Amino acid sequence: MIARFKEEVDRGLSCTPKRLPSKYFYDERGDALFIAITRMPEYYLTRAEFEILSQKTQCITQALGLQKGKYFELVELGAGHGSKTKALIRAWHRAAYRFTYLPIDISPCALDGLIAGLSRELPGVSIRAQCGDYFEILDSLRGDRHPKVVLFLGSNMGNMPDEQAAEFVHELGARLKPGDSLLLGLDLIKDAAIVLPAYRGGITRDFNLNLLLRINRELVGDFDVKAFEHRVEYDVREGIVKSYLESTRPQEVRISKIGKRFFFEKGERIHTEISRKYDDRILARIIADSGFRIVDKLMDGQGWFADYVLKRC
Ligand code: TRP
Repeated sequence: MIARFKEEVDRGLSCTPKRLPSKYFYDERGDALFIAITRMPEYYLTRAEFEILSQKTQCITQALGLQKGKYFELVELGAGHGSKTKALIRAWHRAAYRFTYLPIDISPCALDGLIAGLSRELPGVSIRAQCGDYFEILDSLRGDRHPKVVLFLGSNMGNMPDEQAAEFVHELGARLKPGDSLLLGLDLIKDAAIVLPAYRGGITRDFNLNLLLRINRELVGDFDVKAFEHRVEYDVREGIVKSYLESTRPQEVRISKIGKRFFFEKGERIHTEISRKYDDRILARIIADSGFRIVDKLMDGQGWFADYVLKRC
């Protein structure tokens, strides 16, 4: 893990423009900061998706084609603390659907919290959490014959560039069988006045800067986080939020474990993150060669967020 981190940081800071992979945002402090982000009034995504999952459960159940007598596995990619998913699990458990919940996440602390919360609130639900890489774990499940419902929520696919998202859905489809389904939560393209505030502000700034602190700690670096500002851009025609850390002065950063120094001009940026917003056309393009087709789309009352139901054909 650390070797990979080192390699990716080295590669990212050595290219022009500089970039760092956002998946490393999520250490213990990153997890806590992300939870704080989801509670910001401006961060509408979590609330909108929670509304869909808790109020449109019947439509979702129907679109997924679930039947009471028929056992299935509910696999969640990047489950985090699972607070939105609980709404679905509670409804299905109460209605006596038979399933095992298999949350997968790269963060062990998030999974511990999820297991503790679920066994307290819904002790009857069968759960088997796994920490690690999505596809490795899906590969290990391949042998069984149980129908699967895969959840990929929170617009997490939006943090991948389109080509990577297309490859991701393709790889996922290859690991599922005809009839299996995917519930895909995606933030929709809308005005900058609504989108931008969700990605700005002090907590989000700290969330981005946490990556530099993590480099300081794990790779023995000397980033001066006070000398970086958080910048966010969004062009509604393109539909992609872009986050950067911008150096406020010329500076040199040493990272001992990489054995290199990296130079920053005043105003030079590190690209840390994208968050793509979708519409039906963009999603159709991304899933074109994946073996999935869209069977339904559920939206929140404001039409800001969508949970798409896809079937593997
Ligand atoms: N996938 C979510 C989103 O795009 C969560 C997320 C990832 C996020 N990185 C973020 C939220 C950075 C705020 C800032 O919104």
